[in-house]
Amino acid sequence: MKLLVTGGAGYVGSVNAAHLVEAGHEVVVLDDLSTGHADAVPEGARFVEGELSEAAGPLLAEGFDGVLHFAAKSLVGESVAKPELYWDGNVVATFRLLEAIREHGTPRLVFSSTAATYGEPERTPIREDAPTRPTNPYGASKLAIDTMITSYAHAHGLAAVSLRYFNVAGAHGRFGERHAVETHLIPIVLQVASGSRESVAMYGDDWPTPDGTCVRDYIHVDDLAEAHQLALQKAQPGTHAIYNLGSGTGYSVLQVVQACRAVTGHPIPATTAPRRAGDPAVLIASSEAAASDLGWKPVRTLEDMVGDAWRFTRDRAGA
Ligand code: UFG
Repeated sequence: MKLLVTGGAGYVGSVNAAHLVEAGHEVVVLDDLSTGHADAVPEGARFVEGELSEAAGPLLAEGFDGVLHFAAKSLVGESVAKPELYWDGNVVATFRLLEAIREHGTPRLVFSSTAATYGEPERTPIREDAPTRPTNPYGASKLAIDTMITSYAHAHGLAAVSLRYFNVAGAHGRFGERHAVETHLIPIVLQVASGSRESVAMYGDDWPTPDGTCVRDYIHVDDLAEAHQLALQKAQPGTHAIYNLGSGTGYSVLQVVQACRAVTGHPIPATTAPRRAGDPAVLIASSEAAASDLGWKPVRTLEDMVGDAWRFTRDRAGA
């Protein structure tokens, strides 16, 4: 298939673009490099540097079989301080993309959605029919996009799938996570192991969890990429399917730090800090729908995620 990958110079987008190239697809990456890196675009993909709102239309006019849409702003804290960036960069830009998809009759869309659309869960594990009450503008912007996509699928026959990721981790060879402002747990812990940070602060040790630290559902970015390919194959015209992607297993912050100590052999000093605003105690996905409808099964462990992220971190440091 000829596929447009928006945000294909970012973390999840570049790993997906690499998987798609490896699977033999013709891949065009569109990215404005606001947070992505030109050297993260895989060999074999054509790279177009540009704004989603402006460049998607002229590109889709060429004729594409589908779009995988990763380009987005994705920092929860920033979304609270500057919501306008999220309504514009996520919602308005995706509206422009959907209009280009409609105008040029692009048949398929796979959208990078998030567990943040659910907010604080009433029940664990979280299923797709759980209430959607996002607790920050980031999650609200992704939920608004999901709502737009449903209406386009129903009205215009688009075959659409939204994938709601839980905590993505790991790396795919030279494609991995490298944000200018790092807020995610595993890369921060590995910065300690590689010597670029003194210690990791664990946000709260008094949560209602077995060891008092927050529990999250970590999913390897390669398992995630496999789900995108399945979604692309199984998308049905006129339908917008929504699937959670997680492993169904929770790990606490302390367990993640311990896994990083075991993989790196570094003592990784950890301190306890106050709770971070907006963090739920436990977030675990039910991925039963993705298993039954898409035939998707995540196979990589937390140790695989930490091991691959660690290799990526050390390769980049030139160690
Ligand atoms: N944490 C620490 N110390 C740190 C960084 C994180 O203790 O230095 C903790 C957090 O408090 C949280 C856990 O580690 O309990 C994981 O935090 P991350 O920032 O890695 O990930 P989040 O669970 O906050 O966020 C993820 C995605 C978001 C998405 C959200 C959905 O990264 O994009 O899940 O709930 F919105």
